[in-house]
Amino acid sequence: MKPAEALHATVPHAAVPRATNQDVKRFLILSLETTCDETAAAVLEGPRFPATGVPKALSSVVASQFNLHERFGGVVPEIAAREHVLRILPVVDEALRRAEVELKDLGAIAVAVRPGLVGALIVGLTAAKALALALDVPLVAIDHLEGHLYAAQMAYPETSVYPSIGLVVSGGHTSLFHCRGPIDVEPLGGTIDDAAGEAFDKVASMLGLGHPGGPAVEKAAATGNPRAYSYPRAFLHEDRLDFSFSGLKTAVLYTLKGQDARSRENVELSPGLVADIAASFQAAVCDILVAKALRALRKTGESRLIVGGGVAANRSLTNQLKNMAKNENIQLFIPPPAYCTDNAAMGGIAFAKPAAGETADLEIDVVAGLVRGRGEKTGGKRGEREPGRARISGS
Ligand code: KG4
Ligand code: ZN
Repeated sequence: MKPAEALHATVPHAAVPRATNQDVKRFLILSLETTCDETAAAVLEGPRFPATGVPKALSSVVASQFNLHERFGGVVPEIAAREHVLRILPVVDEALRRAEVELKDLGAIAVAVRPGLVGALIVGLTAAKALALALDVPLVAIDHLEGHLYAAQMAYPETSVYPSIGLVVSGGHTSLFHCRGPIDVEPLGGTIDDAAGEAFDKVASMLGLGHPGGPAVEKAAATGNPRAYSYPRAFLHEDRLDFSFSGLKTAVLYTLKGQDARSRENVELSPGLVADIAASFQAAVCDILVAKALRALRKTGESRLIVGGGVAANRSLTNQLKNMAKNENIQLFIPPPAYCTDNAAMGGIAFAKPAAGETADLEIDVVAGLVRGRGEKTGGKRGEREPGRARISGS
């Protein structure tokens, strides 16, 4: 079967990107991202199928909702979904305006359909389906975690970042992948309880710092002593490529409230104490992430490491990764901070999808949790605990 026939065989409604009134070389994709508490859209320009190459972002707009969730100490799924409804169209308009393009210029619509908060995902997917239908262009479904890793490729367009080990460290996920290509990723391990970013957020809350917790803990840690407290580093010397952060989080709680989590009810959170706890906690998280990434590199024999997700914006982590990469002769690829946290530009991975026959039909649905067997617990993102698996077809 020829590639074009194969595409039509699997996806009858929206297979190969059709010619639009764009000029021949310029292929534009509008990418949407609503997996958690960021409403994001980006216009991406890349090679027209079947040509290959790394796309570039003509615009990337992110409307964060963090101030709405702050007082709850975490993301409230229902609030997130309702806000996405209000923001998605203005965000799309702004992305088009900044890119200086119109809807009629678009050749495809890409959208993150998994994993994430179910209500939040549905808003992005519904908007993407409506646009694809109205414009009569293909719909491309994206895996949010593959997108986080592809952000590294977009940041280094001149070099192939594959094959490599991929480390995703975000608010909902801490996973290691063997990445043979952008959409050929094999899970190697993941967290069995909290994600790294989730641990940052919970510790920030215990220390009376703001939400999201990662940047606040990083700031507080800057003046603290990372050796003030000796916090546990779960599985550090074990061969497995899994992570566990709940013991570390509990250890911080015990520092504050005593071994029964109650005996020091009114402990005074002096700036010095907060800084030392933040620094010691951050050091433990970084040690674990760097050690497991190195173990995955050694196990697979790969010599490239790509890192994505909000926690990859942490400078202590990036510095430690850089040192490891230098000592071990590893090529390290980390996107700039704005492309580590949730954004729609990482939807550039969509350009790798039509080429592999992966365009979606309008029957496609969201998948809230990770698919079992993909190296991590099933479940939504931070703030959502029910598995919430939905039917998926067409991708
Ligand atoms: O990738 P992301 O924006 O959303 C998810 O897919 O979850 O990651 C958000 C997470 C939050 O937990 C946030 O606290 C954490 O990334 N984060 C950081 C930093 N910036 C964001 N953690 C540590 N240090 C940072 N500088
Ligand atoms: Zn994310």
